[in-house]
Amino acid sequence: MSARPGEQPTAPYLEAVVSYGFRGSTRFHVPGHKGGEGADPGLRSALGDRALALDVSQDIEGIDVGAAPTPYERAERLAAAAYGADRTWFLTNGATQGNHALCLALAGPHAHVLIQRNSHASVIDGLVLSGGMASFLPPEYDAELGMAHGVAPEALAAALARSPEVGAAFIVSPTYYGMAADVRSCAQAAHAAGAALIVDNAWGSHFGFHPALPPSPLREGADAVLASTHKIVGSLTQSAMLHVARDGIVDPDAVARAVRVVRSTSPSSLLLASLDSARRQLAVHGEALLERTLAASARARAAIEAVPGCTVVGEKMVGRPGVAGWDPLRIVVDVRGTGCTGYEVAAALRAAYDIYVELATHATLVLVLGLGQPVEPLERFAHDFAETVRRISRPGRGPVIARPPVALEHQTVVPIREAFLGAGEPIPVREAIGRISCESIAGYPPGVPALLPGERVTGEVVDYLRALTAAGARLHGASDPSFTTLRVLVSSRQ
Ligand SMILES: Cc1ncc(COP(=O)(O)O)c(C=O)c1O
Repeated sequence: MSARPGEQPTAPYLEAVVSYGFRGSTRFHVPGHKGGEGADPGLRSALGDRALALDVSQDIEGIDVGAAPTPYERAERLAAAAYGADRTWFLTNGATQGNHALCLALAGPHAHVLIQRNSHASVIDGLVLSGGMASFLPPEYDAELGMAHGVAPEALAAALARSPEVGAAFIVSPTYYGMAADVRSCAQAAHAAGAALIVDNAWGSHFGFHPALPPSPLREGADAVLASTHKIVGSLTQSAMLHVARDGIVDPDAVARAVRVVRSTSPSSLLLASLDSARRQLAVHGEALLERTLAASARARAAIEAVPGCTVVGEKMVGRPGVAGWDPLRIVVDVRGTGCTGYEVAAALRAAYDIYVELATHATLVLVLGLGQPVEPLERFAHDFAETVRRISRPGRGPVIARPPVALEHQTVVPIREAFLGAGEPIPVREAIGRISCESIAGYPPGVPALLPGERVTGEVVDYLRALTAAGARLHGASDPSFTTLRVLVSSRQ
């Protein structure tokens, strides 16, 4: 049953939890803090009694049990209707959980999938769980800015033609830098090859809700779409949604089975309620809120562009390979003309103004705005940024980054699951060259996995990851964050 017209202004799950939470029912069920009265006083004063009263367990009559559709079912249906999906699942372990579920549903043992090389680490972890066979598609890469974009439809079509056994292609749109792929053409390429198109839209849960934004990937022909609703739309951290398209290639029942496997039997009602209310806000007021945020973003970008040595990277990239659109809620500033790195500018902003940005790289600073972005801090930022750059800039250009990993030869020798679960040993990174990695390591920034489980370690990869750590980047997934040692398969498995 689909959602009824006029239902979007309601939030049935939130309303049901509120009704139960505040009516004084006697609770002889989990959680043990009993609506807050039994909680540690420090937590009570930190979160407030209202939040604790709403922290209720699964299987409460009138919330997610009882006459169908329950408020919980209605909430997921309203989300599906808002996004134009056939089915939507609320996730309480982020888009990460969605990638795990999609791999279990679509990339079981012996199933072949094509993965964009700069996909989030959770796709690789999903393949560890599912045992699927992956081939990789490098994204378009801007070596100057150290920035990976999306995949070009032609590159996707060519990769699918080389691997006719592939049943699903996983792409990312938009990227961390807000660059959106040509999802429509990618969907056409995938479907022509008989493969499903899965779009990791973690950073684009607001797409399609304002004419100035890229369209929603579901409306462009994607078969399944992930949205990290918490990132921009404003649900609580760790909450996300997974959508399956109407009339798509992906079987919703297969996804439902897989979601159950990676779902807690005690999902947080606070996270679920936040998804329900975020969907309401987006569906009902999204366009108006985005209108205000887009105008504030345009003003901020103009002010930043006026700062000597700084350029905003965004609209001008559209049309480059792998970039079909961009998200004005991501302000990416190229600071190389200041003679400083993005890391230095970010540190100076923190020290002087207590400003925290989403990301700094050698070349850039990335600001993430929210759906209902408060305007005043953004206006203040323009001043604080200009003053900071004036104070710390020096002649010359900021250094270029180490060679990009996507330009390196990646030789997959052992399937991902086998390499991850196989007998491994940590050894000094220099000695690891020529051995097979058990680890997935992505440098943040730029966020492109340089090494995956099952790949042979090369000298170039080691040099690249060392250069990133020296520059202050974080190594996501590395068992030794200092990158002194690396876990490789024991010698008998090489
Ligand atoms: C492209 C992409 N997919 C998935 C995720 C995982 O999202 P979450 O943090 O909601 O689990 C991220 C997180 O940054 C991401 O950038």
